[in-house]
Amino acid sequence: MKFFIDTANIEEIREANALGVLDGVTTNPSLVAKEGVSFHDRLREITSEVSGSVSAEVIAEDAEGMIREGKELAAIAPNITVKVPMTLEGLKAVKTFSDLNIKTNVTLIFNANQALLAARAGATYVSPFLGRLDDIGHNGIDLIETIADIFNKHEIHTEIIAASIRHPLHVVDAAKNGAHIATIPFKVLQQLVAHPLTDQGIEKFLADWNKQK
Ligand code: E4P
Repeated sequence: MKFFIDTANIEEIREANALGVLDGVTTNPSLVAKEGVSFHDRLREITSEVSGSVSAEVIAEDAEGMIREGKELAAIAPNITVKVPMTLEGLKAVKTFSDLNIKTNVTLIFNANQALLAARAGATYVSPFLGRLDDIGHNGIDLIETIADIFNKHEIHTEIIAASIRHPLHVVDAAKNGAHIATIPFKVLQQLVAHPLTDQGIEKFLADWNKQK
């Protein structure tokens, strides 16, 4: 499974990239708004740091507007993936982007039919939102498993991005259940590395080392 970072914060992206495990970046309008910067400028910064896929979301609600915005976003750098919401208009836009060889990430996926339709329209990625499903008492991981089964059965090549990840267990469960990618907030990425026994082990090794005569 590949790792994307789910942020528009350039410092977090740089730090994650320095770890050597970063395969891409996802942003959304809320994450960009938090940064208080120009969206296009920030995308230029991110795409000059990261060579993998960088998802940039359209704001328009009609297909024509999405296509116009998406083309502008895709012109910023070759590794931009246009993020499109899962709506009827979104599907039309995805089909057009697919015909133009522009990569797409269909976002706000909450059931398997949405994922199937997005894939059929030619989506490069689909993003089921785990945390937001868990928040309303549904099981986000079950959805990943269902989508992965269907995609495998029908030899669909659209990749599944486990999104709306809230904690480390989501990451391992997404991997176990067939997600191709997990897009992770920086805080969760740090949590993935940490283990108290690792810290204790380092402390003990150092203490023993310093006892040498
Ligand atoms: C995915 O691409 C989204 O940006 C993201 O994972 C949304 O997560 P949230 O539910 O924590 O806002």
